[in-house]
Amino acid sequence: MALLPILCYPHPNLHKIAKPVASVDTRIQALVQDMLETMYEAKGIGLAATQIDVHERVIVIDVSEERDQPLVLINPEITWKSATTHLNEEGCLSVPGIYDGVERFDEVHVKALNEKGESRTMETKELLAVCVQHEMDHLMGKVFVEYLSPLKRNRIKTKMLKAQREDAR
Ligand code: NI
Repeated sequence: MALLPILCYPHPNLHKIAKPVASVDTRIQALVQDMLETMYEAKGIGLAATQIDVHERVIVIDVSEERDQPLVLINPEITWKSATTHLNEEGCLSVPGIYDGVERFDEVHVKALNEKGESRTMETKELLAVCVQHEMDHLMGKVFVEYLSPLKRNRIKTKMLKAQREDAR
């Protein structure tokens, strides 16, 4: 297993669109293990492959308090959305220190393959539903700050670039 570096906004590769996984083989299983390790180390509740610069449709999530219920979603597809939405305060490992409100569906059903290549459908709500929608956006090259106003987004971009310059010194 290996810890993988996480791309930080506004890295251009965060806007790449991920391709479907052709087959859940040992390479994908190793990627999943590395992504889980990276997510737990970074204390995140979700990580999309896009964030570690791999542009394939793979997501890992763990919203449990005990951090012992990993979920792996390969080639996820939303098969149903609730009619209702709510504003949720979100953060992202690729935009450290920034939290803001994003409108999300209250519940979504998501069909995906697991790490064994088995297809299943999960009915999600609350934090898990938000996390699924946030991570699936990453696979489409979308970072949550893109839902915010251009003014807010530009402020965040400036702040991130400044922090990255300071880190590089
Ligand atoms: Ni994120």
